[in-house]
Formats: sequence, structure tokens, C-alpha cells
Amino acid sequence: MSQTAQSQALNALRDWWADMGVEADEAEIRSLMKAAESRPSPEAAPENVKKLRPLKTQKTHQDWVDEARTLATAASTLDELKAAIEGFDGCILKEAARNTACFDGVQGAPVMVIGEGPGAEEDKKGLPFVGRAGQLLDRMLAAIGLSRTENAFITNVNYWRPPGNRNPNDEELEMCRPFVDRMIELGQPKLIIAAGGVSAKSLLQSPIGIMKLRGTEHRLETPGGYSAPLFPIFHPAFLLRRPEEKSRAWRDLLQIQDKLEGLVSL
Ligand code: URA
Repeated sequence: MSQTAQSQALNALRDWWADMGVEADEAEIRSLMKAAESRPSPEAAPENVKKLRPLKTQKTHQDWVDEARTLATAASTLDELKAAIEGFDGCILKEAARNTACFDGVQGAPVMVIGEGPGAEEDKKGLPFVGRAGQLLDRMLAAIGLSRTENAFITNVNYWRPPGNRNPNDEELEMCRPFVDRMIELGQPKLIIAAGGVSAKSLLQSPIGIMKLRGTEHRLETPGGYSAPLFPIFHPAFLLRRPEEKSRAWRDLLQIQDKLEGLVSL
């Protein structure tokens, strides 16, 4: 093959990759072009062409959501699901997080509490609700006979600490959602408590705020067909800032206790 033909072949290969949406390694192409132009032997080209290595194509958001769903569906226990979440690299929040905070408490407990996502303490320990808000949550649960060592399972709608403690955004929540749904399907809670507006809105896919969502029984249905009553409550971190809301929070807890009494004996 002549030098011009070799250069044309490399160009054609690069164009073909571009058409296929594959990002080529431009530095390598340039060095192969240079080599092809100065190479006396026409036989050398095909071997070198084989060395061209397409870079990995970037996964789209939807690819990651699909991958999360595949991983979540494949998990048949909560521990397998935890391992799948810890190994999942789709959520950008993981890059800045120290740990993945998946869940805590009793597997198979009648009550599942779902918060919005780890804060600084949770990030440090790799467990949900272990900071100040978590301590208040424990006291709130204890007031109605619940505890993470006996009859409650605690998790979040997102497993990695957002930088600066911002709320997880819609994309991040969508990526975690297959894991959240699968956690509910595997945990089989009789009742779900959504702690805070981010969690309640995300779980119910509702634009309505926590002020209106709380105080009412909702229903959560997972894609795998599991269904449970869901009660949104104020987030304990909100109650730390706004203690005057504790009476409404107390009413919500009593409503949950009433409902639970009709569902299970704790
Ligand atoms: N707030 C949450 O919503 N979840 C945690 O795990 C900690 C704080």
C-alpha cells in the first residue's frame, strides 16, 4: 500500500469511528500517520492499524439508570444489594464522598425509614442517620416503640453525600431509584416513613411539598409490584432548626403508631 493510501485508510477509519459515535485516540492516530508517511515498507501498515484503540465511549445518564436497574434486579438479598450499590460508579456524588451509606437497622423490619441522603457524619461512618439529625430520629422512633436495633430499617433515597450538604438533584435521585425500589422489595416493610420533603417528593414522584404531604397516608408501589403505606414526616434536621414544629411531628408519629397497630404487633 502506498503512503498516501495508508494515510487515506487511517482517515477513513477515523471517520468511520466518528460516524459510529466512538471517540478515537487522536494522539495515536497522528503518530500512526507520521509513521505511515515515513515508512518505506507497505506491509507494516495493516499491523499498526490494528494497534489503534478506540477510547471507551461515555455512558449516558440513561445508560447508568439502566445499569442501576440491572444490578438492583439481580440482587436477591439486602446484602447483595448493598454490594451492588457500593460497586456502582454512575452517580457523580460518589467521586467526592468518603463512603457509601446504604442502610442500617434490622433487615426485614416492619418499618422502613427513608431519608434524603448522607451528611458529614454519615459519610464518615458509611451509615445513614448517625449524626445529630439521626439522634433525633432515634428519639422520635423510640417515642412510638421503634428502634433500629429491634424493628426499624433505615436508609436514604441517595447513598453518597452531596458536596456542601446540598440536596441531591433529580438526576442523582433517578440514578439511585432502582436501588431504592429494590431495597423496599427485598426489605418488605409493612410501612414506610419518608423523612423530609426531598425523600417524600422523590418516593411519591410528587411536586407537592412536605407541608402538604405530611399528615396523610400515601401508598408506594414499586416496579416489582411491592406495595406499602407511606407516611411523610418532617425531617429531623428541620425539627432541630424549627422546634416549634415538633407538635405537628408528634401528631404524625401518633398517626403512624395507630396505623402500625393495625398492621403488625411490634
Ligand atoms: N439526613 C438524611 O436524610 N439522611 C441521613 O442519613 C442523614 C441525615
